[in-house]
Amino acid sequence: MKVIEVADYQEMSKIAGEMILRQIEKKRNSVLGLATGSTPIGTYQHLIQAYRERRVSFAEVTTFNLDEYVGLDEKHPNSYHYFMRTELLDHIDIPDGLSHLPTVESIDLQSECEHYESLIVNVKGIDLQLLGIGVNGHIGFNEPGTSFSSRTHVVELTETTRRANVRFFNSIDEVPTHAVSMGIDTIMRSREIILLISGESKAEVLDRLLREDVTEEIPASILKRHNNVTLIADQAALSIYKTNRS
Ligand code: PGA
Repeated sequence: MKVIEVADYQEMSKIAGEMILRQIEKKRNSVLGLATGSTPIGTYQHLIQAYRERRVSFAEVTTFNLDEYVGLDEKHPNSYHYFMRTELLDHIDIPDGLSHLPTVESIDLQSECEHYESLIVNVKGIDLQLLGIGVNGHIGFNEPGTSFSSRTHVVELTETTRRANVRFFNSIDEVPTHAVSMGIDTIMRSREIILLISGESKAEVLDRLLREDVTEEIPASILKRHNNVTLIADQAALSIYKTNRS
């Protein structure tokens, strides 16, 4: 795992944004894996700015998001469909049919999961996957204990994750209990991965990620076995690791 230390969120976002732009420059019909949450917003702003400056076109790009809550309508402001539209997709020239998120409206979620996997396989896999990390080490919504061989699946969210995300809802009761998420094996099949870690709230998990062995208890630890991962971490996120090391 290549580690890039940066000063702050802004520098992290710029470097990640430029890596994505280089990928699209290299291959106009790149397949990107995208993430939601506070972490990638700055990266998306960088991409939108580059699009406005006509440095890039997304006209041939395909995207797949990591996950979506079960139980929220796609138009719900806390759904990840809504997040992606407002934070990125509405502001660039990606054609409607080329951006994908798990669809969670069907009663048969298992078939939806298999369908999502097949869509990724049909485009010959993800070229570049963007990831954040949960305070408990999750990637996508793959909570601690998820099998490393998992593919897109229905997950039950842990209390830690629901509490971490309650800031977007009125109360904990409104936070969905389930989600559909790409599995860990789905993520690991991406040809390249960028892991973004920013802020003090992630310092403990980053310290564990860097110091502990690969374990299903820290889902992100599997990324150490991938041959093309770049971790971009800011000083706040690195604070505990650096203190422990000195
Ligand atoms: P965050 O979420 O970017 O809002 O911290 C990351 C995650 O839970 O994967």
